[in-house]
Amino acid sequence: MPNLAIIGAQWGDEGKGKITDYLDESADIVVRFQGGNNAGHTIVVGDNIFKLHGLPSGIVRKGKLAVIGNGTVVNMDELLEEINQVTEAGCSLEGLRISDRAHLVINYHKKLDGSEEGYRGQKSIGTTKKGIGPAYQDKIKRVGIRAGDLLEDDVLREKTNSNLPYKKNLIAMLKAEPCGCDEDMMFNKLKGWQEKVGKYICDTSVMINEALDNGMKVLFEGAQGAMLDIDHGTYPYVTSSSTCSGGICTGAGVAPNRIEKVIGCLKAYTTRVGEGPLVTELSGNEADALQKKGGEFGVTTGRGRRCGWLDLVVAEHASRLCGFSSLAITKLDVLNDYEEIPVCTAYMIDDKETKYFPASISKIKRAKPVYKVMKGWNGWNDTYSVVREGYDALPDEMKRYIEFIEQYLNIPADIISIGPDRKDTIDRKGDWWN
Ligand code: GDP
Ligand code: IMO
Ligand code: MG
Repeated sequence: MPNLAIIGAQWGDEGKGKITDYLDESADIVVRFQGGNNAGHTIVVGDNIFKLHGLPSGIVRKGKLAVIGNGTVVNMDELLEEINQVTEAGCSLEGLRISDRAHLVINYHKKLDGSEEGYRGQKSIGTTKKGIGPAYQDKIKRVGIRAGDLLEDDVLREKTNSNLPYKKNLIAMLKAEPCGCDEDMMFNKLKGWQEKVGKYICDTSVMINEALDNGMKVLFEGAQGAMLDIDHGTYPYVTSSSTCSGGICTGAGVAPNRIEKVIGCLKAYTTRVGEGPLVTELSGNEADALQKKGGEFGVTTGRGRRCGWLDLVVAEHASRLCGFSSLAITKLDVLNDYEEIPVCTAYMIDDKETKYFPASISKIKRAKPVYKVMKGWNGWNDTYSVVREGYDALPDEMKRYIEFIEQYLNIPADIISIGPDRKDTIDRKGDWWN
């Protein structure tokens, strides 16, 4: 039952899309198990750039099954737009499957997301305003509409009639832009989705487990990152789903004893989009330079990502929670032009040193990073020979940076990424499925 999982080890945008795409060449199935189109995963194949949000990265390769699992929330309108884009680029939808238990993002969720953010004022989370939080609220509140409901008219009618009036009241109370639809319009909208996506909806847990029984290779593609996890992240500055590897079990319908290898995708520095504390955050010119060099602008919202040095307290938190068996260290090339590169190894909080990421937001805000300053590989820029010759051709300083991370976390850095393209990848392990 070979399977791999790729999980973001920071606040998202670590390069999960690229690493998933690299590894899914040899996979049979790629599964998204949480989140929705708040995610933005970039895949670069030569001159083609795919920016995926709700679709699993496996959709880009021919002959793969691409599964949207039960733990996700799906905005069907935006998924259909994405489907148009990828089909225009030559991708096939033959392998697409959507869990009948996945929840739907309805227009009112988007409106509520925006207005709740406005309501929070100074305390806003900086969400993507895609309606993700409100859709998960409905799931937990046990009033959500699921993809499988699209296949049953009476259920759709009943849920439309009970949900819409309530949401309209809520929207009026928050003084948000009205929904602009009545129950019949909403029902017809959902029926329209039934016609367009009904054929992809099935019990994906049965499908994934049968695939595992039959020795097919399954790759679980995480969205966001461990620090945005609803339980373990920088709450309340988090997303509304379980982004850690535990989310695979609930979000794909796969038992814990079936999960094999978990790859932590770790950017060589740190970024985060939206609000919330970031202990190693840079400011001024230093921040601007790193943001520019790394192209750190959100794929989903276009917002500039806040940038900082690598934080190993964060990486320890993520690896303990997710059980990383390997690391994929990405974007090392972005650090090419530094004489020295600080790496955070602990926090000083109220004159006490800690190596563990605290729960309290006020403590995190008071935390001062303790840095180990590493020598940079300033001026090196020979990606081409590394791609040909492998790890040994990397500059010594970069190898020491990588080894320092490996030793701190006690996890091998089996994948090294030194450019956005599929081919700019050093694979130190090779056979991932044994
Ligand atoms: P994801 O959300 O984790 O899939 O990451 P994003 O796609 O949102 O952001 C990562 C960005 O970095 C994308 O533009 C990728 O094309 C790019 N990228 C990924 N790996 C590398 C790398 O090793 N070097 C460079 N320079 N860019 C990379
Ligand atoms: P990928 O998969 C980076 C952030 C938002 C906000 C918080 C809550 O591309 O790594 P939400 O809309 O989810 O309620 O917003 O989470 N966020 C992400 N940040 N990468 C992502 O996805 C993100 N998805 C959500 O910016 O701070
Ligand atoms: Mg992203």
